[in-house]
Amino acid sequence: MDVKPLRFIRRGELVTLHGVPPDRTLLDLLREDLACTGTKEGCGEGDCGACTVVVAEPASAESDALRYRAINSCIRLAHSIDGMALWTVEDLAAADGRLHPAQEAMVACHGSQCGFCTPGFVMSLFGMYQDHVAKGEAITHDMAREALSGNLCRCTGYRPILDAACQMGQQPVVRVDEAALAAQLRELAGAPGTAYLAPTALPELLSLRAAHPGAQVVAGCTDVGLWVTKQHRRFAQVLDVTRVAELRALKDEGPYLSIGAAVSLADAFTALVARRPQLAAFASRFAGLPVRNSGTLGGNVANGSPIGDSMPLMIALGAQVVLASVRGERALPLEDFYLGYRKTQLAPDEVVARLEVPHPSAGEFLRAYKVSKRYDDDISAVCLAVKLQIEDGRVTRARIGAGGVAATPARATQAEAALTGQPWTQASAHAAGAALQAQFSPISDMRASDGYRRQLLANLMERLWLESQGLDTINLERPAAARALLSEEGLA
Ligand SMILES: Cc1cc2nc3c(=O)[nH]c(=O)nc-3n(C[C@H](O)[C@H](O)[C@H](O)COP(=O)(O)OP(=O)(O)OC[C@H]3O[C@@H](n4cnc5c(N)ncnc54)[C@H](O)[C@@H]3O)c2cc1C
Ligand code: FES
Ligand code: FES
Repeated sequence: MDVKPLRFIRRGELVTLHGVPPDRTLLDLLREDLACTGTKEGCGEGDCGACTVVVAEPASAESDALRYRAINSCIRLAHSIDGMALWTVEDLAAADGRLHPAQEAMVACHGSQCGFCTPGFVMSLFGMYQDHVAKGEAITHDMAREALSGNLCRCTGYRPILDAACQMGQQPVVRVDEAALAAQLRELAGAPGTAYLAPTALPELLSLRAAHPGAQVVAGCTDVGLWVTKQHRRFAQVLDVTRVAELRALKDEGPYLSIGAAVSLADAFTALVARRPQLAAFASRFAGLPVRNSGTLGGNVANGSPIGDSMPLMIALGAQVVLASVRGERALPLEDFYLGYRKTQLAPDEVVARLEVPHPSAGEFLRAYKVSKRYDDDISAVCLAVKLQIEDGRVTRARIGAGGVAATPARATQAEAALTGQPWTQASAHAAGAALQAQFSPISDMRASDGYRRQLLANLMERLWLESQGLDTINLERPAAARALLSEEGLA
């Protein structure tokens, strides 16, 4: 199979690389092929942030502005950055050696000791710099904490690094010439190869999917990347869905918010939170920013992990998944998409095209909870999302999605039945908790025991009840945000 040359812009120059295998990771390309060893390898699985680099592409087809993303290069396939601009830690200082404000602030705040994590932190800071400081926005500790949640440091401690993030803006602004770079990037469209297939339109994607059933479908590669780095799996042919315009679309369409399968988790959650602000804390608990920048909602749904976080929420929201193939489209309620442990209804010639999420309704009470061992960047032990329609003190409709308690993400039909038509009282919440425990038989694993998971189901229903009563001990994760939300809902 022929591999198209990989082309990207670095330090304002076009880089053209021939013969890069379709399953080569970006980190291996940088460190082993290009000898750019400033970018570090720690975990090789998207967990530590040592390998963080920043990529950018034009914000839209016509725009001169660029969209920047800090990503984990260890689990990203090199060809996925074809046609983009790339910055590694070697690319930030000026030609005369002057440090970039992201680097200067780390020095000034004593943000580095052994230094192993520092290139990754600096790149996450650079991503923040481009997104905020370069646009005249100040960075707060909260913003920094969220943007740096994918970077681990074992010796310095985070306070000086968070201070560095907030202080980057105190130095003279360093700007990227975005118009010039956007013009360069637009010239990069090249002839397609056959080893790394990256179609740009849905009909083309569907034909390729039908013609190459053996090609590994890849979106953000935050799951598939680990198959390469940890399981040493090789892919002779890759079908990348992230360039397909229809799959990148995010728009209101009639009664739905339509989220294309290749929309990043970061953008999907931004849109969901804009419509349902109570999801902000939950959204920030999904991995860390570099994973949310690469990973997609479609990939999370297609992967079908029983401990995936978006699916319980999507099930509670009543979302439909739309599957597409050369034979046409079909839409399913998301809970019907899952057949068994990592088994879905996806046929060999189909792709996930989009998720259709109903808009909020008046009187909706929604909460989504994730319980994991670590607050940031961890996988759920249990995830529970509950949407209640409460009218005159009575639950008229209930939809509940649960993760971590069955072989698939599941709809909690028994708890929904226990609630529907009942007055919304603590007793009803307890009955729903008992129904959750009756329906699910979770397993014990390294994340949690079966007993703990079952207890959580009841406890989370109790928490939901307390939150519905406006108690301000509620969302211990973000008390200030929770209070603001409750006052918006007229509960505090
Ligand atoms: C450090 C780290 C933290 C994580 N934290 C979380 C977390 O908190 N919660 C959570 O739920 N997950 C988490 N994940 C898992 C992962 O990020 C998500 O599952 C993500 O949504 C996968 O999306 P992707 O685009 O990267 O999928 P990929 O890795 O590209 O693909 C995943 C699977 O979906 C298939 N696929 C992708 N797109 C399509 C499509 N359009 N049609 C058909 N098939 C498709 C692929 O073939 C593959 O089988 C984490 C991963 C890492 C590395
Ligand atoms: S090396 Fe740890 S996130 Fe990439
Ligand atoms: S400075 Fe040593 S790990 Fe962060």
